[in-house]
Amino acid sequence: MEKKKFYITTPIYYSSGNFHLGHCYTTVICDALARFKRMDNYDVFYLTGTDEHGQKVETNAQKVDMSPQDFVDKLYDQIVSLWELLGISYDKFIRTTDDYHVKTVQKIFQKLMDNGDIYKSKYEGMYCTPCESFWSDAQLKDGKCPDCGREVKLMKEESYFFKLSKYQDKLLKLYEDNPDFISPKSRLNEMINNFLKPGLKDLCVSRTSFKWGVPVPFDDKHIIYVWVDALSNYITALGYLSEDPSLFNKYWPADIHMMGKEIVRFHTIIWPALLMALGVEPPKRVYGHGWLLFGGDKMSKSKGNITDPFLLCERYGVDAVRYFLLREVPFGNDGIYTNLAFLNRTNADLANSLGNLVSRTTAMIEQYFDGVLPGPIEKEDVDYELINIANSLYEKLVDCMDNLLIQEALEEIFKLIHRANKYIDETTPWLLAKDPSKKVRLGTVLYNLAESLRIAAMYLSSFLIETPQKIMDCFGEYLPSNFDENNITFGQLRQGIKVKRSSILFPRFNVDKELAEMDKILDDMKKIDDVKIDSTPQISIDDFSKIELKVGKILECEKLQKSKKLLKSKVEIGNEVRTILSGIAQFYDPKDLIGKSVVVVANLAPAKLLGETSEGMILCAEDTKGNVVIVSPEKALESGSIVS
Ligand code: MSP
Repeated sequence: MEKKKFYITTPIYYSSGNFHLGHCYTTVICDALARFKRMDNYDVFYLTGTDEHGQKVETNAQKVDMSPQDFVDKLYDQIVSLWELLGISYDKFIRTTDDYHVKTVQKIFQKLMDNGDIYKSKYEGMYCTPCESFWSDAQLKDGKCPDCGREVKLMKEESYFFKLSKYQDKLLKLYEDNPDFISPKSRLNEMINNFLKPGLKDLCVSRTSFKWGVPVPFDDKHIIYVWVDALSNYITALGYLSEDPSLFNKYWPADIHMMGKEIVRFHTIIWPALLMALGVEPPKRVYGHGWLLFGGDKMSKSKGNITDPFLLCERYGVDAVRYFLLREVPFGNDGIYTNLAFLNRTNADLANSLGNLVSRTTAMIEQYFDGVLPGPIEKEDVDYELINIANSLYEKLVDCMDNLLIQEALEEIFKLIHRANKYIDETTPWLLAKDPSKKVRLGTVLYNLAESLRIAAMYLSSFLIETPQKIMDCFGEYLPSNFDENNITFGQLRQGIKVKRSSILFPRFNVDKELAEMDKILDDMKKIDDVKIDSTPQISIDDFSKIELKVGKILECEKLQKSKKLLKSKVEIGNEVRTILSGIAQFYDPKDLIGKSVVVVANLAPAKLLGETSEGMILCAEDTKGNVVIVSPEKALESGSIVS
């Protein structure tokens, strides 16, 4: 039977760097949906990527004296490693600087022009560069961007315009005919009341005041508006208007465009209007989820609230991070991240409920049956409650995932886990074990627990990426790649298989102690940021003579796993070798530093950063643009030489 297709997309991410936990939200949600649909026998295509053009990128690259291409390449590496860390199972990653994308965006623009949907005129109005958004005076909030609250700039440019106003009624009809087109419902009302009812204006779709973008094919003074460029990714990635449109023919229209609520406007007004103008079907569904907030604000660097996903995954494991994102936020609404909420969630659900169930079950099978799975022979009424929950889970999950109720889906799986824990308390296997005549009943209880774990692990594998296989390892089994009649039904583990006692899946944290540790990590991170010296008081020659500067030679150098900024070097200074951490990972590839002569502050008191001791400091110079270079002796000199 031919599989049903399922095309799901995240927005393409801005190349702004410093990705925080909030950024991971859309991608992890889509990943869970994609994994579930694959398991459920859909032919899934999951697209993500990076949004690499625009004035913002051009300006940010200039600030650090880099070419825009080098700048976006670096951020591309960063985001790809983040998705790898989080186990994101995308089928394609598109970059808007990819050649094929650029070519197709030009063809799209040409087609809109040929169809009479684009005309040239003059634009005068306000522009928010961080959001790459045009605003009328009436739309501004206290003179600032209504989306992000930042300053807007007056823009006067000769521009090309897209006839957006022409599509006003067609858009309303699209919403009416497809009640699920925009969800949740609140966002539909927002679009109608705030944008469509006041009347759509034609959209300025080209800029002339910067260069980093796709040139208008028939007028290369103009750069195509970054949102037209960016939105098109959803079809260029499939080969629309290319020599090979087979993916486009197969997967379009998208089944879900997933995104944060702040960009629903672009996806439900500009995007379907552009598609209508191109004669292409609109996507089936646009879902605007809420934000992950940190202390009440949307996390972003400009507002000073960052939670580093690399750091969290390193310390707590990728599954704890994924679980928090998927479980904590009521999908569609905003949710709040705090260190405490994260630890409580991990302790309660993963360490206590799931972890305990796995360790208790496997330990009892080992203890009472020498690690050989007994059979389900002597059933009692209480068993059926557990079995029924397990057997009805598949349909409930399909329903939740179809309705994008991710949090509820996890709750349903945890109902089985909670019920199994309660079943242990009710059946008291430790008492059954004391009575040899209850051995068969004990075997049945343990079988039921093992089987509940198999089913929970199978369903959890759409949400978590390491733990489910670890659970299956206890039974010497692999996770199935698809759901089928057999594996969704209770009773599949074979009697007599070898069962291994599980190691601890999630350690239980002492919350107060761990919170203090987290504060320390944040302090360490701050110390790294504060190493910059802004204003320096004068010092005497005596003060200076207290500093022992020596030539050192870098023998080994590697990135410190726990940090994006730190490199860890082994530095030879005369006849000793020291470990020194330096915040230069953004500027140097560790392998390029091996063998390099450097100047080291040799009598600096050792300091602990992220659990590693640094015994000195490698001197660096930083220019006003933030470029950092290592200070090196002008000629080769043996290590240990005094610098004065
Ligand atoms: N480049 C545009 C999208 C163009 S799509 C044609 C963009 N990029 S973004 O990097 O700013 O956002 C990417 C995704 O991350 C969006 O879905 C956005 O809502 C999401 N998030 C960024 N911060 C977030 C939170 N704090 N919480 C939840 N998601 C948020 O917009």
